[in-house]
Amino acid sequence: MTRTIVLMTILAVACLPAGGCGKDDSRGGGPAKGKTVVRFLEGPDNGGGWKEIVSRFEAAHPEIDVELVEGPASTNTREEMYTASFLSGDSTYDVICMDIIWVPKLAAQGWLLPLDDRLPPNEREKFLPGDIQGSIYEGRIYRVPMRSDAGMLYYRSDVVTTPPETFEDLVRLSREHQKPPGMWGFVFQAKQYEGLVCNFLEVLWGHGGDVFDGTGRVILDGPEAVRALTWMCGLVRDVSPEGVTTYQEEESRHVFHEGHALFMRNWPYAWTKAQEEGSPIRGKVGIVPMVHAPGKSSAATLGGWGFGIAKSAKNPDAAWKFISFATAEAQQKTLHLRNGAIPTRRSLFQDPEVLAESPHYPDLYKVLLAARPRPVHPRYPEISDAIQRHVSAALVGREAVEEALKHTAAEIRKIVGR
Ligand code: GLC
Repeated sequence: MTRTIVLMTILAVACLPAGGCGKDDSRGGGPAKGKTVVRFLEGPDNGGGWKEIVSRFEAAHPEIDVELVEGPASTNTREEMYTASFLSGDSTYDVICMDIIWVPKLAAQGWLLPLDDRLPPNEREKFLPGDIQGSIYEGRIYRVPMRSDAGMLYYRSDVVTTPPETFEDLVRLSREHQKPPGMWGFVFQAKQYEGLVCNFLEVLWGHGGDVFDGTGRVILDGPEAVRALTWMCGLVRDVSPEGVTTYQEEESRHVFHEGHALFMRNWPYAWTKAQEEGSPIRGKVGIVPMVHAPGKSSAATLGGWGFGIAKSAKNPDAAWKFISFATAEAQQKTLHLRNGAIPTRRSLFQDPEVLAESPHYPDLYKVLLAARPRPVHPRYPEISDAIQRHVSAALVGREAVEEALKHTAAEIRKIVGR
C-alpha cells in the first residue's frame, strides 16, 4: 500500500519516530505485518511523479511498503529533519534523499552506508560526472544521483529579442522593459536560506571571484566579491521587487509564471512548468546561461539530489531495491515528464521522448557538465549559514557590503581553521 505523508510544518517531525502519528508500519506493529517498510523524506511532490514511482515499485515488490514523506520545500529544513532523526538515534528514515551539499557532512558523521560495491565504476559512468563526484566523500560513494540541477537565466522571449550576456545588460534591459509593480525586471532567490548561496555564488563566480582560492585560502572579502554583492544589492527596488528578499524557488517562479517579471534565475524545472498546458507564459520563455562580467564567464551552481542508505536502515537490501528502481531510466523519465526533474543518467539527454518535451536538453547538458560545486567540506552547512546571514543582511540594508563580506570571510576562516 502506498502511503504518503505530507508534513506541513517542521513540528510534524516530532510525530514521526516509529509507530507515531497513528501510522501503522512493520516497526509499529500495524497491519503491514510481514512487510518491510522503506521510508524517505522528499520535498513536495509537485507533479505527482513520486507517487507514481512509488506505486509502480510496490506493484513490482509487494513485500516492500514505501513511505514517501513530503516535507518542506527548503533543503535546509529537510537537512535539519534528517539530522534531528539521526541525532536522536531513531531509525525513522531508511533511504536518505540528499541534496548534493549534504554528502560530506552526513558521510563524515558516519550516518550513511557506503555504496561502493552496489554502485561499481561501470554503473557510475552512466551518470553525469559532477553528480557522481558530488556523491563521493573521502574516496567512498554514498549517494546515487537521482536528479541533477544547475542554475540558469530565464527570459521572456516575446519581449526581449536578444537575451542579456552581462550583469549590465540584465539591468539595462530590465529598466528598459519593466513596468513595476505589475512587471518587474528580475526575480531570483534572495531569502536567507541555501538558495541564496546558490544565487550569490553564480554572481560571485561571474565576477571572477570565489569563496576559496586554489590553495584553500578564504578570499570572500576580495574585490570581486565586493563587486558581486554590490551588484546584487543594487537590484533590490531598482529592477527586483523588495519582496525578492523573501523568495525561494517557488515564490520567484510564481511571479515569473504569472507574467510579472521579465527575467528569472532558477533551476531547470521551471522550464517544464512554464511550458505546461494552461501556463500564461507557454511558448514565451527562453533560457540562457547566467550573465557574467565583461571578460569573465557565466557560472551555474551545481545542485541536485540523490539517494543514500541510512546506517540505521532496518533492511538495507530493501532500501537498495527501491533506490535502484527509482534511479533507473524509466523512473527518471517519469520524474522529468511529471515534475520537471533533470535526469542524472546521460542517456536520457538523447532520449526522443525527453527531447520532444524538452528540446533544449542538448544545451542544458553542456550547462550541467560545466556547473560548479559549492565548497565541499564536512562543515559546509556552517559555511553556508555564514554566507546566508551576511549576504541577506547586506541585501536588506542591515550591513554594508564590505562589512558583510569581511564578517563572512572571518567566520569561514574560523570554521575551516585557517
Ligand atoms: C535545488 C538544488 C539544490 C540546492 C537547492 C537550494 O533543490 O538542487 O542542490 O541546494 O535548490 O534551494
